[in-house]
Amino acid sequence: MALAATDRPPGTAADWTIPQDWAGYTPREHAVWDLLFARQTGMLKDRASEAFRRGVEHLRLSEKGIPNFEDLSERLARRTGWRVVAVPGLVPDDIFFDHLANRRFVAGRFIRKQEQLDYLQEPDVFHDLFGHVPLLSDPVFADYMQAYGLGGLKALRLNALDKLARLYWYTVEFGLIAEPGGLRIYGAGILSSSGESRFALEDKSPNRLKFDLMRVMRTHYRIDDYQQTYFVIDNFEELLHQTRDADFTPLYRQLEALPDLAPDAVIPSDRMLSRGTQNHAYRGKFQ
Ligand code: PHE
Ligand code: FE
Repeated sequence: MALAATDRPPGTAADWTIPQDWAGYTPREHAVWDLLFARQTGMLKDRASEAFRRGVEHLRLSEKGIPNFEDLSERLARRTGWRVVAVPGLVPDDIFFDHLANRRFVAGRFIRKQEQLDYLQEPDVFHDLFGHVPLLSDPVFADYMQAYGLGGLKALRLNALDKLARLYWYTVEFGLIAEPGGLRIYGAGILSSSGESRFALEDKSPNRLKFDLMRVMRTHYRIDDYQQTYFVIDNFEELLHQTRDADFTPLYRQLEALPDLAPDAVIPSDRMLSRGTQNHAYRGKFQ
């Protein structure tokens, strides 16, 4: 559920940021990062998008331990002007969008425990940094994220956030990209999950559809399991052009007249790259 400004924890600045307190991490916590990093980079060798792999290199994420947000921000800012700031957990939508609109990516500072390497409810520093930050060093993707922040503020005013949030989900979190060498991952939710990295590209269960903006904004998604559908873009320029350079106000109005679609729906206008069996046993409900 959306948070209200009154829920701001004590010690948090007006923009909900807190110090990362990098010196406060224990050797155990750094070791969890190293373990996750080694495991995911192995897994992603021929699975992650080119832009992600370049970002990991540019930002020197392979250096040992949980990255220091200050150092990381310096490297990132030199490329695209983005910075990373720490927050205590989920923040209110308007705060989140305002940070994005100003090229600040908000990240959790805590790291999961050794016992929860594969599953956790809330995004931690591994998901936020490893999953999201490499792409922010790509100039086109960096512009997309900033535009999304501005779009979020507008969607709030227009009461259309449920629609716009689906775009974030199916691109920033769970997006796939068609590269010359084959399908690759750019969504952070997949990049930071070893199970989903394999599932999203290789499993027979999910549908893989060509990205279509209106189609995406009509589609419910899974929050508690792998996705039933992945949307595939051809490149980040296409994504940026279709979103930043379009006025969503009339689109939101059109969407009100169109029925929402279930996460596994297939409709005649879909451009199907692979039709899923939907054999994976999904838990829970979708939203
Ligand atoms: N151009 C969109 C609008 O008019 C905003 C937006 C940009 C949305 C980028 C998503 C991503 O609302
Ligand atoms: Fe995320």
